[in-house]
Amino acid sequence: MGVPVGASVGRRRGVCRCAVRGTECAEGVSRAPAAVHSGLTPDGAFARRGSATLPTCFVIALRHVRKVYRQGSNEVCALDGVSLDVAGGEFLSIMGPSGSGKSTLLHLMAGLDQPSTGDVELDGVPLSRMSDDELTILRRRRIGVVFQFFNLLPTLSAEENVALPLVLDHRKGAEVRPRVAAALARVGLAHRRTHRPDELSGGEQQRVAIARALVVEPAMILADEPTGNLDSHTGEQILTLLGAAHREQGTTVVLVTHDARAAAQAERVVTLRDGVLVNDARTGGKS
Ligand SMILES: Nc1ncnc2c1ncn2[C@@H]1O[C@H](COP(=O)(O)OP(=O)(O)O)[C@@H](O)[C@H]1O
Ligand SMILES: [Mg+2]
Repeated sequence: MGVPVGASVGRRRGVCRCAVRGTECAEGVSRAPAAVHSGLTPDGAFARRGSATLPTCFVIALRHVRKVYRQGSNEVCALDGVSLDVAGGEFLSIMGPSGSGKSTLLHLMAGLDQPSTGDVELDGVPLSRMSDDELTILRRRRIGVVFQFFNLLPTLSAEENVALPLVLDHRKGAEVRPRVAAALARVGLAHRRTHRPDELSGGEQQRVAIARALVVEPAMILADEPTGNLDSHTGEQILTLLGAAHREQGTTVVLVTHDARAAAQAERVVTLRDGVLVNDARTGGKS
């Protein structure tokens, strides 16, 4: 521990977008053996350059990932040998018909589930080699997840929902309060901070969910059809927020969608069909 995330990138040397964004990345400067640490620093692994706080390089790779769900004697192969590299700071869309394995892929990237065979690596370190504590730190401090149906806790106010990842991480109130206020302001919901989810529109609930993802200043946001339950105008607002996190903070964004307009926001679109990655295209998208 204690080594910046970018120091353990391993195979992806030279591809980190942090350098493109005008920050110097530790990648290629020094490299600690993967077995020694997961690459997480105790403070959540952010590189401070001048006055800016930017995520360090955060590279995710899937190596020959297969995921088979078993239900009694039935087997469903949700992912069938997917290999994929996502560079730090990239905005990637995952497209494909319903049932093609998109959500499964996202859950594996978030460390919420494990592949049946193959590996998911973060900065060159297989998730399977991380301890439970390291995975918990990873999910609390480095990764923000946004779901189609918002997944807010119904009895908590907007600000309590946004505060949750920090509270679970035992952050002190004096740190939590301004960070929550800033995250809610960023999504334009400062005036709704005391409202519960059932007192908010769908679009507002999704903005709260995005504030909850952003409040930890994640290196990566994984969004599973975040506009799927919203009208097109409201969906556009959500995509704008994700695009801003990508442009302004250098956050890696992985957006699952089956909306071609949403995918057009990304710089790269990969397509899944029946658990197989069938296309990987650079789009020159907006972000
Ligand atoms: N927990 C599960 N148990 C059994 N089968 C599942 C489970 N989760 C997903 N599947 C199956 O895996 C396949 C891929 O699902 P999913 O990743 O949710 O696809 P998508 O997000 O592209 O719609 C589907 O056939 C689905 O029914
Ligand atoms: Mg899905």
